[in-house]
Amino acid sequence: MIEKKFESIKMAPRDPILGLTELFKSDSRPEKINLGVGVYYDDLGQVPLLKCVQQAEVTLAERAIPRAYLPINGDQTYCDKVQELLFGASAPAIEQKKVITVQTLGGTGALRLGGDFLKSVFPDSTVWISDPSWENHRGVFERTGFTVDKYPYYDSSNKGVKYDEMIMAFERMPIGSIVVLHACCHNPTGVDLNINKWDEVIDVMKNQKLVPFLDIAYQGFGDGLDEDGQVIKKFADSGMHFLTANSFSKSFSLYGERVGGLSIMTANENQKNIVESHLKKIARATYSNPPTHGSKLVSTVLSSQELFSAWKTELAEMRNRIKLMRELICVEIKKIKPEANFNHVIQQRGMFSYTGLSKEQVIKLREKHSVYAIETGRICVAALNSKNLARAASAIAEVL
Ligand code: LMR
Repeated sequence: MIEKKFESIKMAPRDPILGLTELFKSDSRPEKINLGVGVYYDDLGQVPLLKCVQQAEVTLAERAIPRAYLPINGDQTYCDKVQELLFGASAPAIEQKKVITVQTLGGTGALRLGGDFLKSVFPDSTVWISDPSWENHRGVFERTGFTVDKYPYYDSSNKGVKYDEMIMAFERMPIGSIVVLHACCHNPTGVDLNINKWDEVIDVMKNQKLVPFLDIAYQGFGDGLDEDGQVIKKFADSGMHFLTANSFSKSFSLYGERVGGLSIMTANENQKNIVESHLKKIARATYSNPPTHGSKLVSTVLSSQELFSAWKTELAEMRNRIKLMRELICVEIKKIKPEANFNHVIQQRGMFSYTGLSKEQVIKLREKHSVYAIETGRICVAALNSKNLARAASAIAEVL
């Protein structure tokens, strides 16, 4: 019986993003280029260890802090700093103690913890994700037991947002529907809503009594730390209940440390305490409590004026390098194929570009040229550098 059960287990499909990295690693061609996973590489093709983080490491090593368990909800200084960063230090909601922030295992952990919490409050709701969205959004929310559906978002005809269709979809959603929104640097398209459009989005969501779940994994990679955080502040000002999942994987280049946060805007301090008690129950039963090191690094940087400003400078360097790569890949492709229109890549924001390459073109890119992209046509522009750019461009131009 048990043997039969095990024998009947079929291979699960590869993860469309991290599975591609596995495939990339097994490729023996030395000239291979991985434009799949969303990781920022510097111009030497390395994942940077930020100088502000190195500095924080030194400070922490000198203090030789014992590695006791953190509280279930994480390091309090870290959580306070996350709130300040997301909502602003003097935000009324923080002063009124309406926001609960819990340290999570990266942004994915925040989405999952939030999803588990929402399932207990809105068991019959559907979770709506943009069409398209980050591949793992569906996976995370389906694992929590929700049905996941899509709302219109990307318009391939003009490489913009299907704004009216999206608003109409929100207006038709049942009360209590959960809507996952990308606060900046939309993954995978790189196409964001104009900031002024968000007011209407918020009004519609408020009227329709929807539950917004904002995902902000790329703050600082679009137009700047404050600029990219504006949407969160708009939601906070709206007085709605909403959730935010944030990640420092990219902005602090701390991918492997799994540093994220889940923040929930509640109505008042009493409600905040109640919500917190439930989040703690879920976290305790899932991973007990979060790890110490990454959150200490982040809170050390965010608590020091000097390190905070150094971080902003390093973040700006990463952001500007990505923008440069966007421009150069267009220039290179145009040199080889003048009729190719790749200008949308320059307009897009964040790490990714939705190139418009078809699945067949992506497969050809991988098999013939050892250039790896996601099958939806998404490339990670942040993985281009002055050494691999010309080769990536000529491979793309060849498959176009
Ligand atoms: C991505 O979209 O490539 C990143 O967010 C990494 C991941 O976990 O998928």
